[in-house]
Amino acid sequence: MEDVTGRVALITGGASGVGLGQARVFGRLGCRVAIVDVRQEALDEAEAALRVEGIDVHAVVLDIRDREAWADVVDGVEERFGDPVTLLFSTAGVNGFGPLEKASYADFDWILGVNLGGVVNGIQTVLPRILSAGRGGHLVTVASMAGFQGSATAAIYAASKAAVITLMESYALTLPAQGVGVSLLCPASVRTDIARALDRRPAEFAMESSFTDDPRFVSLQQQLYAGGMDPIELAEHVHAAIVHDRFWVLPFTETREGLRAYFDSVLAGYDAFDTDPAAAAGRAAAFAQYREAARRLGDAP
Ligand SMILES: NC(=O)c1ccc[n+]([C@@H]2O[C@H](COP(=O)([O-])OP(=O)(O)OC[C@H]3O[C@@H](n4cnc5c(N)ncnc54)[C@H](O)[C@@H]3O)[C@@H](O)[C@H]2O)c1
Repeated sequence: MEDVTGRVALITGGASGVGLGQARVFGRLGCRVAIVDVRQEALDEAEAALRVEGIDVHAVVLDIRDREAWADVVDGVEERFGDPVTLLFSTAGVNGFGPLEKASYADFDWILGVNLGGVVNGIQTVLPRILSAGRGGHLVTVASMAGFQGSATAAIYAASKAAVITLMESYALTLPAQGVGVSLLCPASVRTDIARALDRRPAEFAMESSFTDDPRFVSLQQQLYAGGMDPIELAEHVHAAIVHDRFWVLPFTETREGLRAYFDSVLAGYDAFDTDPAAAAGRAAAFAQYREAARRLGDAP
């Protein structure tokens, strides 16, 4: 998509951090911007700040875990702007740190519900509308560098982001041919308030949680994120990815060697096996045949 001017953009987590940076940048580029978030007060502040900049903004409270509410919110956004949403930024996310073996079901339900369920709900609601509007569009989803490998302390977060990475890769296999671009942003550290995510956790998920709210740890995290990339710069990278139709948005170049080492360690898993090359070639040929036949059936996996 070369030009985003005039498009209606819906941004989850738009009251803060990465989402608010996206609202600023895409608003300045002439998008009409809907920001949704669970926090009314933060939304009000963000909306006022965007208005001051002359951005055409509509702010709505939405818990992205709530499927029914999604449809009503998008109806309202489309009514307000008189046009369909064609840019969806699935940005809202939460994090929690603690020992995985002590995790409660509530820990899993909260993190997976927001970070994976919220992304699914947004795309399930908005994508059919983008396709039926026939004006093209773009899905931008925020995962994390943490989604590429396991983590001793942020395991559920890492699992949620890993799922988001492969989900978006899958959309990217089919949507561009239908006029809908897909970009996946994997941040490392960004100057945001995510260290305070636990403060925003609904009470129902707080029971027996493994996540630490030790103020010394939160303060360490705040220091880390304070040195992170500016959300405006990050959103500008996202804009470039939309314009150039790029899927991977990996602007944290300091993580490149770590990722390479990780992928090397995965590939090293083959080294322990010396299976019969002829049998391996036979399996590969059978798989290729199956894929080709399935593609002709019209539902290639
Ligand atoms: N900050 C970083 O260093 C970093 C690194 C990697 C990935 N990310 C990802 O960036 C995204 C944005 O995070 P951020 O750093 O801007 O944090 P943030 O806490 O500043 O912003 C996240 C926003 O999401 C909102 N939110 C939380 N739960 C919600 C729900 N159920 N429904 C709707 N909104 C909800 C919060 O109220 C908040 O305004 C997240 O997906 C996060 O995982 C951030």
